[in-house]
Amino acid sequence: MRIGSVDIGPGALLAPMEAVTDLPFRTICEELGAALTYTEFLSAEALTRGAEKALTRMSKSLGGRKFAVQVFGRDPEVVARAAGLAADIGASVLDINMGCPAKKITGGMCGSALMREPELARAMVAAVRAAIPDAIPVTVKHRAGWDDLSLNAADFARQMVDAGAALITVHGRTRAQGFSGTVRLSAIAEVRLALPTTIPVVGNGDIRSVDDYLVMKRETNCDAVMIGRAARGNPWLFRDVRALEEGRPLPPAPAITEQHAVWRHHAELVREHSPPKMVLHELRKTLAWYSRGLFGGSDLRSRCFSERSSDAVLDLGERFFANLLAREAHAGVAADPVPPEEKWRERHQRRAGDKEEMENVCDG
Ligand SMILES: Cc1cc2nc3c(=O)[nH]c(=O)nc-3n(C[C@H](O)[C@H](O)[C@H](O)COP(=O)(O)O)c2cc1C
Repeated sequence: MRIGSVDIGPGALLAPMEAVTDLPFRTICEELGAALTYTEFLSAEALTRGAEKALTRMSKSLGGRKFAVQVFGRDPEVVARAAGLAADIGASVLDINMGCPAKKITGGMCGSALMREPELARAMVAAVRAAIPDAIPVTVKHRAGWDDLSLNAADFARQMVDAGAALITVHGRTRAQGFSGTVRLSAIAEVRLALPTTIPVVGNGDIRSVDDYLVMKRETNCDAVMIGRAARGNPWLFRDVRALEEGRPLPPAPAITEQHAVWRHHAELVREHSPPKMVLHELRKTLAWYSRGLFGGSDLRSRCFSERSSDAVLDLGERFFANLLAREAHAGVAADPVPPEEKWRERHQRRAGDKEEMENVCDG
């Protein structure tokens, strides 16, 4: 796929996610086959008021891989200046957030609120386009519309492209839906139909498996797919999609040894790159993600959130995976690793966690 003059290899894109798509996690997803990863959204106001340290620390890529920086704001001049800063630190793609439903963002008339002000949104894209080198494409991520009465994705996307956007990502929910209800694949399909074929359209929303990926591609005709929540703890989804796109057989599900190795590598990246005061929190998060669906996972999660040091959390993780390997060494155990009552607890914890996270995102 080509975004302006930037070539992107085959595979799915990692969605921008606040407090999730930091440098360690983006690196893991890139290594497992993500075609492009996005930083979390960065406030243009904050960046231009001197918070660019955050930009240089976490908004980069390891190994010279391409990456997208996402910014949000309301004033085209300010967003353009922030885009300039992102260009200076090496962003390959500059994405503007016009989809965030959180009250803390839409209250400031940013994020998805811009879908109700296409004129302002156009001015923003044009200002950013003029402010950064031609080699860095400007892209926009938006929703299906504000609510059921204003499903304007296709018209909105057309206007963004007229103003200079080189790629459009559509999360097929309205702002009013937040993260609930179903994704409207028809809204993504309409955007694809409305734009010239030289402008890639990326479909987003609820991709949890290769089957979901295939449905999204088939029903919308989108050029690429963006994966968000399902990548947490399952970055192997990128490997599967990539294999599919390259016409290779699907790789087998990762063995425990591989899950262990990827978790350990992720934890090392956290220790190396996360701000020191965040390391303990981030390490707990990695263990919570990678232990989902594994025997003893829910017990591990309760214990790791009461540990007070990074070393203790790492030690818990090492013992957790060692125990799984020992179990696997006994014939037949690998076939059914999680007893039914633990599966139930897993589902319950996951729903509670997702609900809390969605509330944070939606209510700011
Ligand atoms: C915790 C969290 C944080 C998010 N932060 C952002 C963000 O910073 N910028 C953005 O455009 N979308 C953000 N989103 C939305 C995702 O990029 C994506 O559009 C949405 O989760 C739907 O895709 P999924 O079903 O694959 O997760 C966030 C979503 C979640 C769950």
